[in-house]
Amino acid sequence: MKTEQQGYSISQYPDVDEIYRQLNALVAAPMRPVRRDRMQEYLAYFDTSCRRSKELTDEAKKVIPGGVQHNLAFNYPFPLAVERAEGAYLWDADGNRYIDFLQAGGPTILGSNYAPVREKVFALLQTCGPVTGLFHECELQLARLIQRYMPAIEMFRMLGSGTEAVMAAIRAARAYTKKKYVLKAGGAYHGWSDQLVYGLHIPGTGRLEAKGIPRASSRYTGEFFPTSLAALRRQLIVNRLRGGTAAVILEPIGPESGTRPIPFDFCARVRELCDEFGALLIFDEVVTGFRLGMGGAQGYFSVRPDLTILGKCITGGYPMAGGVGGRAEVIQRFAPGIGGTGERAYVGGTLSANPLSCVAGYQALLEMERTNAPVIAGRAGDRLTRGLQAIITKYDLPFVAFNQGSIVHLETSGVMLLDFRHPLRLLKELKPRKHMIEEMGAAYMANGLVTLAGSRMYTSMADTDEIIDAALERFESVLSNVEGA
Ligand SMILES: Cc1ncc(COP(=O)(O)O)c(C=O)c1O
Repeated sequence: MKTEQQGYSISQYPDVDEIYRQLNALVAAPMRPVRRDRMQEYLAYFDTSCRRSKELTDEAKKVIPGGVQHNLAFNYPFPLAVERAEGAYLWDADGNRYIDFLQAGGPTILGSNYAPVREKVFALLQTCGPVTGLFHECELQLARLIQRYMPAIEMFRMLGSGTEAVMAAIRAARAYTKKKYVLKAGGAYHGWSDQLVYGLHIPGTGRLEAKGIPRASSRYTGEFFPTSLAALRRQLIVNRLRGGTAAVILEPIGPESGTRPIPFDFCARVRELCDEFGALLIFDEVVTGFRLGMGGAQGYFSVRPDLTILGKCITGGYPMAGGVGGRAEVIQRFAPGIGGTGERAYVGGTLSANPLSCVAGYQALLEMERTNAPVIAGRAGDRLTRGLQAIITKYDLPFVAFNQGSIVHLETSGVMLLDFRHPLRLLKELKPRKHMIEEMGAAYMANGLVTLAGSRMYTSMADTDEIIDAALERFESVLSNVEGA
């Protein structure tokens, strides 16, 4: 187990059995939403203090489906329009200030809009602009830097998003192994490609969210219960009988950024299974690289994946962020150029590896290393988690708080923990429990806290002790007002 001294952000790996005991108790118990009178007050905040956001997003609904362009912005009761971001704070279009634990969905470990990176981006824009379509030296600098942090990445191909990187990784794995099947943990998110809108959010849901996706696209995708090596082995055996598994893809701290945590040695055991069955191991480090440390989850667990997916973090949150790296003989399948040799796995993307993304990523990663940002953000995550646990104990709530460094989970409705092993409960409680976290998200927001879907918080280097303590006061003001507190 790696330590803070070695640059890793998890000070103590979660006690997975204990967390599941608490989470199972949470989903078995009746819901404890915010008291109705209080919830009305919180909702009134949006009507009185967020008028400009309402106006703008109402207008946006006429030209943008749902009024926003990204799923994480769909907040209840309506999306906020953000005007300014800096460090640990966001300001909305009405001038309200929030402590920002969304951090753009994870990538801004240095805090939002970090000036030293921004300045390098400006300088680049003044010389060559955002894109030329030709090679720029900073592509080389970024690839070399990533290789230094993650030695399993012998070669690296930059792409436009995590989704694209996953698509490319699977294509390369299939081209290399000549096998078709891909296995993922139920509930894990690996982007929105046709083949991986499968078993999203809740294990066992298979094609539930695969609207608009032909059945054939999911034909070679399988899911296993996220903590079950036995289930994975069974799937590997079945697949062996029908041509074999090209790859097993994991979020290496567990589905949904560790919302369903996995045992410390899980990735190592999956590595062994992949070797036994001749499948490639893909780590999806879109969130864990470089939140867990500059070596990512692979450095933290000391497990060498064949392929690694990187996403929004490799550009420090600047656009066009994604890439796949790994064993040279596999990544070489993407030999460049127009036209193929027959051996080539096709990848494309006009703006892949544009100099803007690469310079932003190179500078952001160097700054993260220089400032020890993953560890500092991890300490903020520890402080936030300890504080939340103290509030939960103080008010005798059934809620569960835990963290993997700067990834903090606060489960109040337990919706993400429902699964098909209890189908009746799943069918009956999915909607109300989902609505409850929407309300919790709104209640936090009305108290000046932005979270990811009301249940996850990403801390950053900008979160000082004072900021975390201020956030905890606001969390307490909400959590002390749930039913029965
Ligand atoms: C673990 C993981 N994989 C893949 C993706 C998809 O990345 P993108 O949104 O850049 O397509 C995400 C996005 O949040 C993610 O968290």
